[in-house]
Amino acid sequence: MYSLLLISAALSSCGLTAAIPAGLHRRDVTQLSATELAGFAPFTQFARAAYCGTDILSDWTCGEACEANSDFEVSLVGGDGDDIQNYFVGYSPSLEAIIVAHEGTDPTQLESDLTDIDVPLATLNSTLFPGISSDVEVHTGFQDEHALTADVILAEVKSLMSSVGTNNIIAVGHSLGGALAEIDTIFFRLNLPSADISAMTYGTPRVGNPAWAALVDASDVNFKRIDNMQDLIPIVPGRSLGYEHPAGEIHILSAGDAVSCPGDDDATDAECQIDSVPTIFEGNIIDHLGPYEGIYIGTIFCT
Ligand SMILES: *[C@@H]1O[C@H](CO)[C@@H](O)[C@H](O)[C@H]1NC(C)=O
Repeated sequence: MYSLLLISAALSSCGLTAAIPAGLHRRDVTQLSATELAGFAPFTQFARAAYCGTDILSDWTCGEACEANSDFEVSLVGGDGDDIQNYFVGYSPSLEAIIVAHEGTDPTQLESDLTDIDVPLATLNSTLFPGISSDVEVHTGFQDEHALTADVILAEVKSLMSSVGTNNIIAVGHSLGGALAEIDTIFFRLNLPSADISAMTYGTPRVGNPAWAALVDASDVNFKRIDNMQDLIPIVPGRSLGYEHPAGEIHILSAGDAVSCPGDDDATDAECQIDSVPTIFEGNIIDHLGPYEGIYIGTIFCT
């Protein structure tokens, strides 16, 4: 299926990027420098690696994605790539950070799940999220998936914080994996008071309600969500269904050209995701896979 999708992408790629007229005046967005863009690559490769098999992740032999972070010390790998999304945890000496990475899922399946009329929101489990307000609601499927691995990942992160002696934690993920990394930010914030927490996510769907977005915004977590060109996953589930993104959008317009978009769901800047992809019919699922500055993410890109 992916190969068919890729062929159609290749045939229509000229049309995809033409949707944003060149020379459009830029308002509140900020152009990212080449250095800032290049700085995302290690995280993009970690998000890509999460799609690889647990066997090759365990000895960090997953090809390009692993070689790009060759000094990474993987310490926990899990999941079954089916009911439990694959994940890994470890320490990156070059980034001086603990990395927690989650695998995503088949994007066409995710799209159909999230455009369903019924994409239920619910309060979070107060054992996993102690002290969380009952105003905060998160997609039930995402929080159930997160809960499957929450305890084992938290235990590993705590153990690494003490054995390595770092407070730096960076959660990464693409697609559903991005949603799980987004949930990690508040999960770690509430359970690891001394940690410095960041998340780098790619092609992330909306995860929770406006109270969730406000909670992420008000926290000291450094949260970034990178959206690629006409990808439609970042615009589902719809705002009309009660969902809202936290701040931190970065929209890739074309290779080497990306902007940082202000606010939660930036609906006013033509170069941000909502105006670029006003409805799913104007989006393109192929752009979900990349390229994120030359790097594709998905099951077939684990080589
Ligand atoms: C909440 O999470 C805890 C810890 O993982 C678990 O034991 C409990 O069953 C969960 N509660 C609900 C209602 O799912």
